[in-house]
Amino acid sequence: MLINATTPLAEARAEMERSYDLAPSPAAARETAGRYARVSRVIPEVDWAGYAPYIRAIEALKAERDAVILAHNYMTPEIFHGVADVAGDSLQLAIEAARAPNRVIVQCGVHFMAETSKILNPSKTVLIPDARAGCSLASSITAADVARMRAQNPGAKVVSYVNTTAEVKAASDICFTSANALEVVEAMPGDTVIMTPDGFLARNIAAQSTKRIVWWEGTCMVHERFTPEELRAYREDNPGIVIIAHPECPPEVIAEADFSGSTSGMIGWVRENKPEKVVMVTECSMSDNVAAELPETEFIRPCNICPHMKRITLENILWSLHSMTEEVTVSEEYLEPARAAIEAMMALKERKH
Ligand code: 13P
Ligand code: SF4
Repeated sequence: MLINATTPLAEARAEMERSYDLAPSPAAARETAGRYARVSRVIPEVDWAGYAPYIRAIEALKAERDAVILAHNYMTPEIFHGVADVAGDSLQLAIEAARAPNRVIVQCGVHFMAETSKILNPSKTVLIPDARAGCSLASSITAADVARMRAQNPGAKVVSYVNTTAEVKAASDICFTSANALEVVEAMPGDTVIMTPDGFLARNIAAQSTKRIVWWEGTCMVHERFTPEELRAYREDNPGIVIIAHPECPPEVIAEADFSGSTSGMIGWVRENKPEKVVMVTECSMSDNVAAELPETEFIRPCNICPHMKRITLENILWSLHSMTEEVTVSEEYLEPARAAIEAMMALKERKH
């Protein structure tokens, strides 16, 4: 068994045990009591006693290495509330990555997010606790596929989701995230826009856009599994429930939802509207992370797990900072053009605000 893509688990554990006091301990739990107060509704005290020594060791290493931890909203609560310096959706994490003054960035999320951080901050050391944390959307398309779509749609701009590899970003004109997809598509010149790689997100945007959209048929393995029948059943079983869904869901699912937005958009909506009962149609950890801070809202928790996001654990975050692995690199060939595509998206945001 491996702790990340390259290190044997037993070897990593033995080295960490020699270097840190990782036994569950009341003293570590007391030292991290402030953080536990944020998650006590979703993490039992006995589990926290096991997490606390890791959190304490990670915090000490962060200071020693001058590291910042950027965590996606799908991280488990002990990561999201326990060790993250910044938590957010893909757009917020990219913005923070560009600003980070630290020497080291630890990306708690999936590989394309770590690549985005490296592209925006090439002089920094970017670590991902497990480089096998991929994404079904990012692996669905190559730069050659993008080139074929361009050839079939001469003159059309290519807008690519940040959930893509550096190579695909480099082959695109501009990036977008679930927080700004419509804005980016509408800003493109011409009648036709090529949108990659999420076919459902593209259909959801096409329903609101003035452009003709040509898309790639990639899917998110988490969101494609939700069905409109499932959502109707939640409503029948829970009168008055509010349903909010991520735009990577199929259009029939979005049609059943009361609100759709990026992961941070969904969290913001719940924080602001404080519904009595809500279902977040997305990855499982989102509800736990928000439920931790909103006692007045009941979260109905049918959700799907992203196996890639769940590769990141407190244990491999500690190992990552201890061993300074796994370092994320981006080939020189893609660095500049991929950065141009991401910065074009950011420039659009700055022009608007
Ligand atoms: P957000 O940008 O909305 O956080 O989405 C990223 C993602 O991977 C959702 O599955
Ligand atoms: Fe990719 Fe879907 Fe996992 Fe997000 S939830 S990282 S889109 S597979």
